[in-house]
Amino acid sequence: MEVKTKSLLDNMIGVGDMVLLEPLSEDSFIENLRKRFDHNEIYTYIGSVVISMNPYKSMLIYSPEKVEEYRNRNFYELSPHIYALADEAYRSLRDQDKDQCILITGESGAGKTEASKLVMSYVAAVCGKGQEVNKVKEQLLQSNPVLEAFGNAKTVRNDNSSRFGKYMDIEFDFKGDPLGGVISNYLLEKSRVVKQPRGERNFHIFYQLLSGASDDTLKKLKLDRDFSKYNYLSLDSAVVNGLDDATSFRTVRNAMQIVGFMEDEVQSVLELVAAVLKLGNIEFKPESRCNGTDESRVKDKNDLKEMCELLGIEQSVLERAFSYRTVEAKLEKVSTTLNVAQAYYARDALAKNLYSRLFSWIVTRINESIKAQAKTRHKVMGVLDIYGFEIFDDNSFEQFIINYCNEKLQQIFIELTLREEQEEYIREDIEWTNIEYFNNAIICDLIENHQNGILAMLDEECLRPGTVTDETFLDKLNTICAQHQHFESRLSKNSKFLTDHSLPHSCFRIQHYAGKVLYRVEGFVDKNNDLLYRDLSQAMYKANHSLIKHLFPEGNPAKVNLKRPPTAGFQFKASVGTLMRNLQTKNPNYIRCIKPNDKKAPHIFTESLVCHQVRYLGLMENVRVRRAGYAFRQAYEPCLERYKMLCKRTWPHWRGPAREGVEMLMADLQVPAEEFSYGRSKIFIRNPRTLFFLEERRRQCLQDLATLIQKIYRGWKCRTHFLLLKKSQIVVAAWYRRYAQEKKYQKIKRATTVVQSYTRGWQARKLLRELKHQKRCKEAVTTIAAYWHGTQARMELRRLKQEVLNKHAVTVIWAYWQGTKARRELRQLKEAARNKHAVSVIWAGWQGTKVRREYRKFFRANAGKKIYNFTIQRIMQKYFLGLKSTLPSMSPIDKNWPVRPYIFLDGVHTELRRIFHLWRCKKYRSRFTEEKKAVYEEKLEASELFKDKKALYPSSVSQPFKGDYLEISKNPKYQKLNSSVDEKVLLADVVNKINRANGKGATRILLLTKKNVVLADQKTGQVKASVALPDLTSVSVSTQNDGFFALRLKEGSASAVKGDFLLSSEHLIETITKLHHIGSAASDGEQLNVDIADEFLVQFKQDKVCVKFIQGAPKNGNGASCKRKNNRLLEVSVPASA
Ligand SMILES: Nc1ncnc2c1ncn2[C@@H]1O[C@H](COP(=O)(O)OP(=O)(O)OP(=O)(O)O)[C@@H](O)[C@H]1O
Ligand SMILES: [Mg+2]
Repeated sequence: MEVKTKSLLDNMIGVGDMVLLEPLSEDSFIENLRKRFDHNEIYTYIGSVVISMNPYKSMLIYSPEKVEEYRNRNFYELSPHIYALADEAYRSLRDQDKDQCILITGESGAGKTEASKLVMSYVAAVCGKGQEVNKVKEQLLQSNPVLEAFGNAKTVRNDNSSRFGKYMDIEFDFKGDPLGGVISNYLLEKSRVVKQPRGERNFHIFYQLLSGASDDTLKKLKLDRDFSKYNYLSLDSAVVNGLDDATSFRTVRNAMQIVGFMEDEVQSVLELVAAVLKLGNIEFKPESRCNGTDESRVKDKNDLKEMCELLGIEQSVLERAFSYRTVEAKLEKVSTTLNVAQAYYARDALAKNLYSRLFSWIVTRINESIKAQAKTRHKVMGVLDIYGFEIFDDNSFEQFIINYCNEKLQQIFIELTLREEQEEYIREDIEWTNIEYFNNAIICDLIENHQNGILAMLDEECLRPGTVTDETFLDKLNTICAQHQHFESRLSKNSKFLTDHSLPHSCFRIQHYAGKVLYRVEGFVDKNNDLLYRDLSQAMYKANHSLIKHLFPEGNPAKVNLKRPPTAGFQFKASVGTLMRNLQTKNPNYIRCIKPNDKKAPHIFTESLVCHQVRYLGLMENVRVRRAGYAFRQAYEPCLERYKMLCKRTWPHWRGPAREGVEMLMADLQVPAEEFSYGRSKIFIRNPRTLFFLEERRRQCLQDLATLIQKIYRGWKCRTHFLLLKKSQIVVAAWYRRYAQEKKYQKIKRATTVVQSYTRGWQARKLLRELKHQKRCKEAVTTIAAYWHGTQARMELRRLKQEVLNKHAVTVIWAYWQGTKARRELRQLKEAARNKHAVSVIWAGWQGTKVRREYRKFFRANAGKKIYNFTIQRIMQKYFLGLKSTLPSMSPIDKNWPVRPYIFLDGVHTELRRIFHLWRCKKYRSRFTEEKKAVYEEKLEASELFKDKKALYPSSVSQPFKGDYLEISKNPKYQKLNSSVDEKVLLADVVNKINRANGKGATRILLLTKKNVVLADQKTGQVKASVALPDLTSVSVSTQNDGFFALRLKEGSASAVKGDFLLSSEHLIETITKLHHIGSAASDGEQLNVDIADEFLVQFKQDKVCVKFIQGAPKNGNGASCKRKNNRLLEVSVPASA
């Protein structure tokens, strides 16, 4: 692969390793840094320590290609890079099983956090892959944005300043794959929650939440997007250039999800963040009490209410906790009121506690997620990103603690590099000129000494009964630490500061290894106490919010602990102690971050600032020690083991002591004697280049060895392959021969079989031929015999046939002869018979002639006629006598008549029947009375009028004509009507008079006298119309089975004024017959016409209306119905008779 990156020694800008700097001075050191910085070379080595300059711009040196370049390369092989350190640490961890720690130090904004992320990302890129491993990597990497959101803030020095210390142990398995991790956090700067210095911001999460959360989320959290609504958010630098809070919020939420936060956990965390903001808005007002003291009261309860709703706290409980404080002694409880200042103090303390506890909970929660699952032994790589040394204008307790931590780190650096190194030279009996370096153990002692250390005194002061103030604490320091050479105070007994006006009365100054720092004592006691009133923690514990409850366990009334909680200083000291012990067990790798300028700007190199950092980081001492000493050391055994291949005498095995082997090796390699020294147990190599040289030779040798191994392996492989081939060939040959022989044998066998089969076939065929011949001979004999027999049989047959033929011929001839004989005999017999008949006929004729001739004289000429007549008479006599006894009854309707005896009597018999019938009819008629006769005459007339003309007729035949249906003369109801009619009523019946307007009928009484037809009202009996019979010209009826009839009047007659009548009667046949009979008689023989047609005209007053009869569907009960179709048509629907 082409190496694009320059080697450490190739085309160096300045020197890549300060150890090689010539001449070595502070100026040349800083000049070298500047030169490299100007050429974008931000990394420089001091031996194995990496100096990192913050470029304040994005660099193209962190690409995946770069990762590949530095992967598995020697530390000094390529130009300095943080990846080289990360690679060295990782390989050392993986291959040599040494736990590592990467200590990143430098002041705020120097790039520690970025460096730690680069190390983590490099390790993540080069270590193993796989679904599970990738998930662990992702979780480890994604823990950073979450912690940065909650633990970082914009400060004047750094827009993304870590306001907590972080140490992360990444755990690996034996293959070097990450298994998980553990994060420790140190002292979050919680005072920032309630107050931020000018130009600084609160923790990022507050701004991210307000900018990035959806409207819906904000509504749920009862928040407003406007920063200015919240007292705890400083406004002057709420918006930071280059920071997109909204996007960051989404990143953080996503990271939380990846790390394994549940949705409800995220919600709870956001609720707590919102609650802190709300808490900041709660304000108090004084309320005077009767004893003259002021008691605080919540001013506007809205924020309090919303906060309580968010956290599920009862408002009154929290309100009380802001107004009262309960102090519990062993047996008694005393409740005192809080004034406004105390209430604000309590509020801020609660906010700080809430936030810092939430932060610790988040770290614990992340640890739960990233915890290594496997129980096997882990290799560990620790990455320490802890706040850098801080020297502000106004330094307080936090800076004191931070700087103490940095003192401890410097201690460990000194321990592990400088002192350790020098001690080792002495131990190993190496010639060594001692290098003077400043050991800051004395400063650490000033701070942490158990008896008279500043922290111990602060604790003592905090726990002391009586009035305790920051001033009493300073007094104590002034008395106890006055003599300490690194402690300075105006009031100390050390008189030299009495006139130092740069040292105010309320301050003390410590000469840290990195410089002098002035601390203002104000707030020291308070911050160390870190007190949260018990009422508040109890109020929090009562919250109906699981996370809050969990964060304030001391609020549980069941677990009241009257012991004071450990002070902040004490806790920090303890955790720093643990950290130091942890780091001491690991192989340290240093990244020393330097900040080039105070403007957070690229390309600016502020010499004074860099110089200050170089000094307090002790980098010059570091170089000097490196240069005075040896760059590399290694025990003889591993050294010999590593380089023994470079000398023929030590390769492959050195039988003697390891040291001698190494000496042999160095002599053989002709390494100049000044380049190395032999220690008691180790060889010390002065210059990295010598190591390079050894490594290079080793690499080449390894290549040669690899070639040799390859050669031997290939030879072995080829030989093995050849032997295998040979063996296979023999096996194959053996198998092939066997196969060939088998084939040959099978071929011969097949040939033999074929020959055999041919021979056998030939023999068989020969035998077959013989057998066939024999068979044919046999068959020939049989055939000949058969033919012979056949000939014989046929001859016999022919003979027999001839015989039969002859016999038949004889028979036929005989039969012919017999036939001829018989026919001849028959002819003779027939002839004889004819002759005999002729003789008898002639005889009979002759006899007849003879008789006739003899008796002619005895017969008269008409005897035959007489006999005939006589016979006829006899027959007639017998016929009549017979008829007399068989005559039918006298009933005219009896159809019986005796059977005719002789054909010739046919006419007589029929005539006699007719005569008899007429006679018995006459007899029957002769028995009629005059009335009955008239009735029959009427019936006869009806028959003449209607028979076969009107369908109603047949049903009327059997009904007797009654005439007076109303019994008009007897019925008193009609007495008046009867009397108004002079003549005898011949017919009285109820009829319907049809109204031409609608075809409906109106009942009328119809009376028929000899001269008139009268229509009268049925109810009143009043005569409606009277028509003289001579005025009637005709009556019209239909051919159908209905009772409609029209009385048509003579035009111009008196009765015709009202027009014709269209009536309907149930006794139509009788009525019309009577009308016809009487009408004809009344008009002197002039016949009254009866028109029978299905369509006729009726003259109503002026109009002529056509009455039309149609055949309707058969109906039961109802008779014909009349409907008016239009002005000129009345339609009568007659139901068809069923
Ligand atoms: N290697 C780098 N490349 C580009 N920019 C960098 C690099 N290192 C640091 N920076 C810039 O410097 C800023 C400060 O860096 P960082 O936050 O790592 O400082 P720090 O040492 O952790 O400070 P603090 O102690 O306040 O947390 C980063 O936000 C980034 O802009
Ligand atoms: Mg940081």
